[in-house]
Amino acid sequence: MSTNLNGGIPRLLVLGTGGTIAGSTASATGGSYAAGGLSLTSMLGDLAGLELSADLIPKPIAQIGSQDMGWDVWDALHKEIVAAQSYPEIDGVLVTHGTDTAEETAYLLDLTLAADKPVVLVGAMRPAGAVGADGMRNFANAVRVASDPDASGRGPLLVMGDTVFAAKDVRKAATSSIDAFKGYPRGPVARVTPSNLDWFGGATRKGEFARYQWPEALPRIAILTAGAGMDAKPVEALLSIGCKGIVLAGMGQGNAPKCVLDALGEAVKSGVPVVRSARVDEGLVDRNVEVDDDAYGFVAGRALGPAKARILLMVLLANGVSDRSEIQAAFDRG
Ligand code: SIN
Repeated sequence: MSTNLNGGIPRLLVLGTGGTIAGSTASATGGSYAAGGLSLTSMLGDLAGLELSADLIPKPIAQIGSQDMGWDVWDALHKEIVAAQSYPEIDGVLVTHGTDTAEETAYLLDLTLAADKPVVLVGAMRPAGAVGADGMRNFANAVRVASDPDASGRGPLLVMGDTVFAAKDVRKAATSSIDAFKGYPRGPVARVTPSNLDWFGGATRKGEFARYQWPEALPRIAILTAGAGMDAKPVEALLSIGCKGIVLAGMGQGNAPKCVLDALGEAVKSGVPVVRSARVDEGLVDRNVEVDDDAYGFVAGRALGPAKARILLMVLLANGVSDRSEIQAAFDRG
């Protein structure tokens, strides 16, 4: 059993946002369910029999499917976590979250929180009541991680499928399997079960301050997915609705038809930053490989996929970072 500095069992703040981990189904073998249907209190009630050695302090923030995650919930989460980090009685924070956008929330928090006490996001691929439901196990694993003093100094973590991922690397890579998450490009940071936790390396970010200020709002940034045979009209449409930046989810190494690249180059000239990322899961998007980033004025997304590239670009612009080489340096760091 882990004990905190005061010799008691760990006290963990549990921020509930919904998702499949808070979903239930009437039929153990049926396919349909609604994410976020269960309240945090009833979800934690189901944990009572697990004999978790942690004191859980529930705080519902939202009860949504994470496809509806956005500014209001992010703002509430950030404020709660910052408060918890300064509160000596709290040893760590758990965030229950839908899996669809967990990587975006984790990375947004990673960019804007000090790498202080453990912050652990957890979700489920199967709702409560479904045969083989993974929510309770993932939650028990997340409690183990958040209770471990070695979880601090790593930034926000995501626990799914007996695996612990760093926010920067984690991606949902499958629609429905319980091992849907992968770490790109560095892989997972630990393996966990309700009774064991094995870190693959030490915490490297202890004492690190937040990289960026928490903003008052986030700018509109769109992801444009490239497809064979497309024309440049979608770029014009995005500019016409006032997008402040565009992330290209490009083919291969972040490529697109020439007419689209040309239109994106015109967007850059008009002051709208363009980041090239890839619609494929693995591999980096480097500068000037197939696309002449220098000539077009593009930023290469490097290891960040489109969803996280959008988050980083939003945070950069909201923090007044608009110089292209500074944006590229931020993407090089990931
Ligand atoms: C959601 O992201 O809220 C639904 C899917 C899930 O949690 O697995």
